[in-house]
Amino acid sequence: MVNEEKTNKDSPKGPSRIFVVFGALALCFTLIGGIYFAVGPDRFSSFFDPSFKISKQTSTASKGAQIGGPFELVDHAGAVITNADYADKFTLIYFGYTYCPDVCPTSLTTMTDALKSLGSKAKDIVPLFITVDPKRDTVEQLRMYISHFHPRLVGLTGTEEQVAKAAKAFRVYFAKQKESAPGANDYLVDHSSIVLFIGQKGQILTHFGHAVSAEAMAERLQKFL
Ligand code: NI
Repeated sequence: MVNEEKTNKDSPKGPSRIFVVFGALALCFTLIGGIYFAVGPDRFSSFFDPSFKISKQTSTASKGAQIGGPFELVDHAGAVITNADYADKFTLIYFGYTYCPDVCPTSLTTMTDALKSLGSKAKDIVPLFITVDPKRDTVEQLRMYISHFHPRLVGLTGTEEQVAKAAKAFRVYFAKQKESAPGANDYLVDHSSIVLFIGQKGQILTHFGHAVSAEAMAERLQKFL
């Protein structure tokens, strides 16, 4: 027995067989890990969860029908902004409106806290707040509103057509509700409350629901930086 073991150990075949086994195992882990990081945790989990609808959209996106695309809007300083202004940057995009009573301020606070906790690591991420209510969200109104959130937050508005085009490009739904009385300016706007994280080549990297915590958002963003 002792001799046999010794022979096995000393023979060139023993160790090389071990290397083959370990090599195969390492390759498996690398492949699974690679897929995980390539597609992101959401889409990775979506392989096992067919009810994950947003992920289906992003899967389609990777096949050519990209989320995002050319847009032209006006920022909170009155400057014309297009998607080309953010080439080579990451963008963290939220569509909403400044008169939103609840969800928008919460989402923007979460984005702000997440970016602040990442500190200088988040320097290449541009947070964008794109209004779905350009009628009331003027340049002036946006400038005042975004001052409550992250110092680098960019507010974007435009004509109704420009805003509709941007929302469509990012597959964001919005619909203006009826005023309390004809001509009153107190309407609500239904809208998707998803935070989109877009990569440096304009590809969607991940997205967050409005219930996400700042900690969870920061943790996931960090993986892409
Ligand atoms: Ni809102």
